[in-house]
Amino acid sequence: MMMMNSLFTTFMLMLFSFVSAVPLNTLRDVWVPKITSPVSGTVWTVGETVEVTWSTADTPVYISNGGRIGLGRDDRIIADDALIRTFDLREANGAINVTVPEVEAGDDYFIVLFGDSGNWSDKFTIQA
Ligand SMILES: *[C@@H]1O[C@H](CO)[C@@H](O)[C@H](O)[C@H]1NC(C)=O
Ligand SMILES: *[C@@H]1O[C@H](CO)[C@@H](O)[C@H](O)[C@H]1NC(C)=O
Repeated sequence: MMMMNSLFTTFMLMLFSFVSAVPLNTLRDVWVPKITSPVSGTVWTVGETVEVTWSTADTPVYISNGGRIGLGRDDRIIADDALIRTFDLREANGAINVTVPEVEAGDDYFIVLFGDSGNWSDKFTIQA
């Protein structure tokens, strides 16, 4: 038990010194880009390559995470990596092509763009 406690203390001290070594600006760069495609009225077809676009107007200098694009339907996220598992958010510079996954047709789909934070799109249609 003593051993566990001291290990824990050491771990916490290491964690603390790591956290305090992270420059403040990197902790502040929560970015919620506005998705510009798909928008309401967009129709995607299963299997087709489509372009997802978002505003880069307010891209922070430093983006700590990669990007990921998920798909949701009717207010629930189906999978947070349904469209693309990982990509370089900075390199993509506001646009990336993805393949529409095989999902049932519906007019209440939305995408979620994950960066340092995330934002979701309007509801749009996926057809078979
Ligand atoms: C998130 O997306 C919505 C809808 O496009 C947009 O109105 C909003 O400004 C975005 N959030 C931020 C913080 O940009
Ligand atoms: C997506 O594909 C279209 C058609 O091939 C192409 O014109 C466009 O530049 C591509 N966009 C990206 C971000 O690669």
